[in-house]
Amino acid sequence: MPESVTAWARAKLNLTLDVLGRRADGYHELLSVMQSLELADRLVVSLTSDGIEVAGGPDLPPPRENLAYRAVEVLREKTGFRAGVRVEIEKRIPVAAGLGGGSADAAAALAAVNHLLGLGLTSHRLAVLAAEVGSDVPFCLVGGTALVTGRGERLSLLPSAPSMWLVLARPSLAVATVAVYEAWDRHGRPGPPASPRLVAALNRQDFAGMVAVLGNQLEPVVLQLYPQVAALKETLAGWGALKVWLCGSGPTLAALAAGYEAASEIARRSEAAGYQTWLTRTLV
Ligand code: C5P
Repeated sequence: MPESVTAWARAKLNLTLDVLGRRADGYHELLSVMQSLELADRLVVSLTSDGIEVAGGPDLPPPRENLAYRAVEVLREKTGFRAGVRVEIEKRIPVAAGLGGGSADAAAALAAVNHLLGLGLTSHRLAVLAAEVGSDVPFCLVGGTALVTGRGERLSLLPSAPSMWLVLARPSLAVATVAVYEAWDRHGRPGPPASPRLVAALNRQDFAGMVAVLGNQLEPVVLQLYPQVAALKETLAGWGALKVWLCGSGPTLAALAAGYEAASEIARRSEAAGYQTWLTRTLV
């Protein structure tokens, strides 16, 4: 049995995010097309004599709030394994940014421990455990391009989106997902969902049709709460992005560029203007 494994935890991007309404359990019913990005954290998961340990840079949330820690804990509660586990995270995905970095780490840790200890959990069982850790974790286990429903935990795979060059940029402020959904309860209203139109465009491999419907129904609420995000959106659009929309509950914005050169230019300007910036593309 191997003593350690290395795994990549891919960031996710909501190509669309439709909020259908608030449910009785307080969560929100979603319809979203999610997409894996090349941007990824690198994890080394190893077996130790006991305990659960998560190590990484100063950016990492403390163990109790760390989804990778929580994932290993849930797996241990459910399967009763005794070994200790150490998860070392080389963080590249920005934290609390709307890119599912914590969820990606959790999914990678679940799969790695299942493999390392030969627990033999099926992908269905892993997905059920993943949903307990967080709404985005089941998608991160599978990756690619998928339509997610429910609170985000139910998914069906879609044809791959074409390769798209993206600039991700954020002002230096933190957004709490809970606060964004609460603001949506007060001010948001469901609009016609974009996800079914994106699914149709993906099935036709119609790029222009896809670009037309990229968007996020949490965006109006976040732009109103955080004027810095609204200003950044205008700026990115002014630099020639084909489309700019909010990632998850923010505060990161995704700017779709016509190609690598255009994306590099937007990224260069965004960095020079003092925004935290990442150049990446969709994983095909
Ligand atoms: O499931 P997760 O822990 O990622 O969600 C964080 C918070 O975001 C939830 O406690 C809830 O307030 C909000 N949320 C929601 N509806 C969703 C997903 C998250 O209201 N579909």
